[in-house]
Amino acid sequence: MVVGNIKESADVVVVGAGPGGYVAAIKLAQMGKDVKLVEENKVGGVCLNDGCIPSKSLIHVADNFKEIKELESIDQDLEIDAGALQNWKEEVVNKLTSGVKMLENRNGVEIIEGRAKLTNEKELHINTEEASKTLKFNECVLATGSKPVEIPGMEFSKEGIISSKEALKLDEIPDELLVIGGGYIGMELGTVYQKLGSDVTVLEASDRILSVMNEEASKVVKKRAEELGMKIVTGEKAESSELKDGKRVVKTNFSSYSADKVLVSVGRTPRTENIGIEKTGIEKTEGGFIRTDETMETTSEGIYAIGDVAGHPMLAHKAMHEGRVAAKTIAGETSFATRQAMPSVLYTDPEIASTGMSEREAEEKGIETVTGKFPMGANGRAMTMDYKEGFVKLVADKENKTLIGATVCSPEASEIISELSLGIEMGCLVEDLAMTVHPHPSISEAVMEAAEEIVGEPVHKYKH
Ligand code: NAI
Repeated sequence: MVVGNIKESADVVVVGAGPGGYVAAIKLAQMGKDVKLVEENKVGGVCLNDGCIPSKSLIHVADNFKEIKELESIDQDLEIDAGALQNWKEEVVNKLTSGVKMLENRNGVEIIEGRAKLTNEKELHINTEEASKTLKFNECVLATGSKPVEIPGMEFSKEGIISSKEALKLDEIPDELLVIGGGYIGMELGTVYQKLGSDVTVLEASDRILSVMNEEASKVVKKRAEELGMKIVTGEKAESSELKDGKRVVKTNFSSYSADKVLVSVGRTPRTENIGIEKTGIEKTEGGFIRTDETMETTSEGIYAIGDVAGHPMLAHKAMHEGRVAAKTIAGETSFATRQAMPSVLYTDPEIASTGMSEREAEEKGIETVTGKFPMGANGRAMTMDYKEGFVKLVADKENKTLIGATVCSPEASEIISELSLGIEMGCLVEDLAMTVHPHPSISEAVMEAAEEIVGEPVHKYKH
C-alpha cells in the first residue's frame, strides 16, 4: 500500500545493487558519505543472482559429474538430481547476497527496495511497496546494468525459449538444448548442459565461436566441446521459430533445428530506459550506453554511471572497478578508470583468459610486438590433470620487452591471468616473468616458459 509521498535526502544515491552499485555504495560509506542504495530486485544484481555466481556453481558441478562419469569404476548410469543441484546453487547465491546486505548495513548504507527514476539533476523518485519517496541528492551513481537481447519472433515470453536467467534455474535437464549464439553465455552454459546429459547444439552466426577471444584458443575450446558431443554450427543465423509437436523448431538462413529448450544468448544491451535520464543532461553513446568521462561522471554534473550501462566490456569486475573510481572521485580523491589490463575470462573447458592488448590491438596502436608461447602439452601439471591442449601466449613490446598482453588457455586460466594483469600494470619486463621462480608442477610454469621464449629459449620446448 502506498502511503503518500515521503521526502528524504542523501549525500549520494546509488541506483542498482549489482557488483558496480553495491561496491560503489560501500566505498562511499567507508569514505564518510551518507549513502542510500536503491534496488528494485535482489541485492547482488545479475552477477550474484542470475549470472556469474550461479553459472560458476553449475560449471563446477557439471565438471565433477563428467569426471566421475568418465571413471571406469563408476556406474555409467549415474544421473544428476537437477532439483538438488538447484537447491545447492541457491544456497551459494543466498550466502553471498546476504553477505552483501550485511556489508551494506555494517557500513551504514541504507538499502531501499524500489524502482528509482530521476526527476531532475538533483532528485529522483522511488516507488516502493509501502510508499512513494522523493529523494534529493548531491551526487547520484547509476548502476542499472544490462538485459539480454531478444531475437524478434523468439522472445523470452515464448514457450521453450529461455535466456541465461532461466537456463540457470532449470529443474530438469533437457534432452535437447539448442543454443543460439556461440559467445560467452552460449559456450559456458552449453558445455554445462552437455556435461549434465543434454544433447547440445550451438548455432553461431559468424564464422567461429568465441569471436572476441584469441582464435587459436577458441579452436581448442571447440575441439573439446565436440569431443564432449556438442554440435557446433557456424555461419548460420537463427531467423525464426515455431512450436511443433511440443518442440521448438528454429529456422536459420540454411537449415532448421529442433529442441526441447532454446537458449537465446546473442548479447546484452544496457538498461537505460525508464530511469529518467531524459530529465537530465545525460547523453548516450552511439551504442546506447550512458556516456561518461574517465572518472565515470556523465555529461550531467554530479551524476555518474558505472558497469554495463556505461559501456563494454560487460564484466562484473569492470563494474566493481568503475564503482571504486566513481566513489573515490565523489569523495574528492583523484581516480581514473583508465587501465592497461582488463582481464576477461571464459569459464569454458578449458578456460580462456586474456588481458592487456592482443598483437592486432598493439599493431593498431603502432607498437611492434614480439610473442612467446608455451603449450600445455609440455606442462607437467596440465598432464597430471589429463589436459594436453591449450597454451600460454605472451605479447611484449619488441623495443623494450615490456609485457603488454597475454592469453591463457588452460585449466585455472581464470587464476593464472592475474599474475599477467599485475605484470602489465606494473610495466614488468618479460625477463621478470622468466626469472621469477614458479612452483613446480603448476600451470603457471607455462607463463615462465612463454616468457623465456621471448628472452631466450624455454627449457621444456625444443625448436622444430
Ligand atoms: P556474446 O556477445 O558473448 O555472444 C553472442 C554471440 O551470438 C555472437 O558470437 C554473435 O555472433 C551470435 N549471434 C548473434 N545473433 C545471432 C543469431 N541470430 N543466430 C546465431 N548467432 C547469433 O553474448 P552473450 O553470450 O549473450 O553474453 C553477453 C555478455 O555477458 C558478454 O558480452 C559478456 O560481457 C557477459 N558475460 C560474461 C561472462 C564471463 O565473464 N565469463 C559470462 C557470461 C556473460
